[in-house]
Amino acid sequence: MKGIILAGGTGTRLHPITRAVSKQLLPIYDKPMIFYPLSTLMLSGLREILLITTPHDQDAFFRLLGDGSQLGVKISYVVQDQPNGLAEALILGEKFLDGEKCALILGDNLFYGPGLGTHLQENTGVEGALIFAYQVSDPSAYGVVDFDEQGNVLSIEEKPKEPKSNYAVPGIYFYDERASDFARHLVPSARGELEITALNNAYLERNELRVEVLSRATTWLDTGTHESLYEAGGLIRTLQHRTGMRIGDVEQIARDQGWI
Ligand code: DAU
Repeated sequence: MKGIILAGGTGTRLHPITRAVSKQLLPIYDKPMIFYPLSTLMLSGLREILLITTPHDQDAFFRLLGDGSQLGVKISYVVQDQPNGLAEALILGEKFLDGEKCALILGDNLFYGPGLGTHLQENTGVEGALIFAYQVSDPSAYGVVDFDEQGNVLSIEEKPKEPKSNYAVPGIYFYDERASDFARHLVPSARGELEITALNNAYLERNELRVEVLSRATTWLDTGTHESLYEAGGLIRTLQHRTGMRIGDVEQIARDQGWI
């Protein structure tokens, strides 16, 4: 399995901060935001990673991460010319994936929790598609998944006004070898984007979409607003101070994995 980090977009909700700097390079306490999703992929055991950025931000990401060899991983780069939607990542990444399965993670999503790495590692052999569900108080800002007691997905909707459940879909998705092909056949939504929810629906229509509930012990934050950015920084600071352990430290993870 290979990993893709989608770190493009315009970051309009964070203007004026993101007029000159990519959102995913902003600090979350003591590290750039991109370190957190990168560390999640590394904890999943993935070492071949594609980083998708806007054309003008690519140099800055390369200055930060280079080819990844200092972390014992291989990082490739592709640009997304326009923010045409999350599912475009699978089309832009088709050559890189070269027929392999992938984990796609959004560059502004931060995961932290005991056993999360092991949990993700267990799913790297995915057949069909695997998404996660995370209980939130206001799911209407997210993709929302509804499922029955056996865990069968009933529906997945993008930012519904009347959510069918309280389970948001976090920005990490596991796909089998067909994702790029399915993504190429998607039709842009009313807001003109190739929606990740549409790709997940393509798997659901074939009865090949699985959902796993992330435990309450897992922290999931997206960091796209001033409020959430500030909160995420505070949380990382508090957890690190309290426990003396570091979160999202890619060098430490590379050492622990025995890669460097
Ligand atoms: O955070 C999880 C949510 O992410 C999911 O629950 C939703 O189903 C999914 O659509 C997405 O919703 P958002 O409204 O948060 O997506 P946003 O447009 O903010 O984009 C998420 C990240 O992806 C952000 O860091 C910018 C980047 N991006 C976005 C688009 C549309 C790109 O790199 N390229 C793009 O074309």
